Amino acid sequence: KRKLIFDTDPGVDDAMALQFLLAAPQLELIGLTTVFGNGPVDLTTTNALRLLDLAGRTDIPVARGADKPLRVPFEGGALHVHGDDAQGNTFAPPSQHTAISLSAAEFLVQQIKAQPGELTIVAVGPLTNLALALQLDPTIANDVVDVVIMGGNAFCSGNITPAAEANVWSDPDAADLVFGANWRVTMIGLDVTHRVNLTGATIAELAKLPGAFNQYVAATIPFYQAFYERVNNIDGLYVHDSTAIAYLLAPELFDCKQYPVRVDTSAGISRGKTWPSLGESDLEEGEALLPWKNRPLVNIAVGVRGEGVVQLM
Ligand code: BDR
Ligand code: CA
Repeated sequence: KRKLIFDTDPGVDDAMALQFLLAAPQLELIGLTTVFGNGPVDLTTTNALRLLDLAGRTDIPVARGADKPLRVPFEGGALHVHGDDAQGNTFAPPSQHTAISLSAAEFLVQQIKAQPGELTIVAVGPLTNLALALQLDPTIANDVVDVVIMGGNAFCSGNITPAAEANVWSDPDAADLVFGANWRVTMIGLDVTHRVNLTGATIAELAKLPGAFNQYVAATIPFYQAFYERVNNIDGLYVHDSTAIAYLLAPELFDCKQYPVRVDTSAGISRGKTWPSLGESDLEEGEALLPWKNRPLVNIAVGVRGEGVVQLM
């Protein structure tokens, strides 16, 4: 079994991803860390605790994380996409359970140092907690097996601005630190998530499945789905966060290329754009390029068999 920490800002598609990962026998969730993102961190933490309640998994610790980005201000999140409660305006009661006393960054460091070479981090919100953990103890980079993130856009346009994807845009400085650290990062960005389409008919089939957890997740979806149908003009929705889980379970569904990545951390129109630097293998003989210097390679998903991801879910 692959041991995971899930760093998340629930969020409708975050809830779907949690459901997907808890159902996967190959994966073992050892902790969940929350971050501001789709909404304020108090809200995303409340949502995370409720989700684990409904899943019958209150044994999994929840560590509350960052309430704001490293440097830029938090601008309120994406409640217009996910609903005022970030759970599709379902307004379900909160869990009686609470988060542990360690912060998300402290919990990440504690767990990684206690189990070197064993943990994978899956991060599907702004990357602030990971950046704070790296600042607390840079040596964690050597001890993590893999970091898989949902975020960024390498060769396509953005979703929160024409230039940038929401998670990276929300804390561009944190993302730049995470892409620059010496660990194995896989970027599951809009290049692939905009090719994984859960249709209205499939959503309706999923909503028929029994169980309190599934019924809750199904109830959160319509508000989110309506956003995608209106704004992206598609039938159903794009599956962002679950696509990162699918990568762990079936990497063969993805085509990946390795590039150094930098994030535009400036306040201009391309804030949060993830810029891959083409490498020598992309150049014809004699062509010159000034690549990003002193940056590790990031494994970027550039292609996906979207139907395969939907089947797996
Ligand atoms: C990402 O932004 C959030 O709104 C979603 O939960 C997902 O993690 C997509 O850009
Ligand atoms: Ca998310």
